[in-house]
Amino acid sequence: MNIILLGPPGAGKGTQARLLEENFSMKQLSTGDMLRASKNSSSEIGKTVAKVMEKGELVTDEIVIDLISEQLETNLEASGFIFDGFPRTLTQADALGTLLKSKGKSLSIVFEMKVDDEALVKRITGRFNCKVCGEVYHKENNPPKIKNICDACHAKDSFIQRADDNEKSFRTRLMAYYRDTSPLIGYYHAKQKLVPIDGLQDISIMHQSIRKIMNY
Ligand code: AP5
Repeated sequence: MNIILLGPPGAGKGTQARLLEENFSMKQLSTGDMLRASKNSSSEIGKTVAKVMEKGELVTDEIVIDLISEQLETNLEASGFIFDGFPRTLTQADALGTLLKSKGKSLSIVFEMKVDDEALVKRITGRFNCKVCGEVYHKENNPPKIKNICDACHAKDSFIQRADDNEKSFRTRLMAYYRDTSPLIGYYHAKQKLVPIDGLQDISIMHQSIRKIMNY
């Protein structure tokens, strides 16, 4: 099964993708994570990407389509893909359709994760990650079980906050979502792939709702 998690910044795409990946042999493909990895390299492209991401703007279609194409090629054995944060524009959506078709695959479900803007800002400003394994936390909604220790990889004092997790960048990201990404709701609705899901549910309840729809 190949699914897309579509939603604004902070909707819970990464959190749900990691839960699905943990429980099934599906592969999470997060363009945000891929771009953060390239941003940490000292290449010219890495420097350009870092500036764009910190402002909360979108990286070019060309760069992200190339990243996804590469990942699809190297993970052909996966039983399914979870697209997290991709596609974000109509051009990317068309490219994904073409790429999947060229590999004899197709899209199963697009989950539209619905969360109101005020809840999103609280989630983004309270989020932190483990820099070793990437596990996502929230200071109130989803803290680690033991203070300063990552639940997933047990690293100590490894928590960091993303450079774009501040209110200014968040507002730019939210505008980019409404301007460039929300047209995908109509696009996938017309293809009968869209399933709206309440993103305000608790993390575990949301995971169960997604699994039920996937028949897992
Ligand atoms: P990306 O990394 O994809 O960021 P995003 O889309 O802004 O989404 P987030 O990672 O912020 O949120 P999320 O929905 O994954 O929420 P999470 O699960 O972490 O992209 C970053 C940047 O890269 C973009 O701005 C752009 O510059 C660039 N980029 C990436 N892809 C691109 C593309 N395709 N094209 C062009 N540019 C691209 O949860 C958030 C918080 O809420 C956490 O603290 C979590 O613990 C908590 N939480 C999660 N679920 C719940 C719940 N149900 N209830 C309560 N709290 C919850």
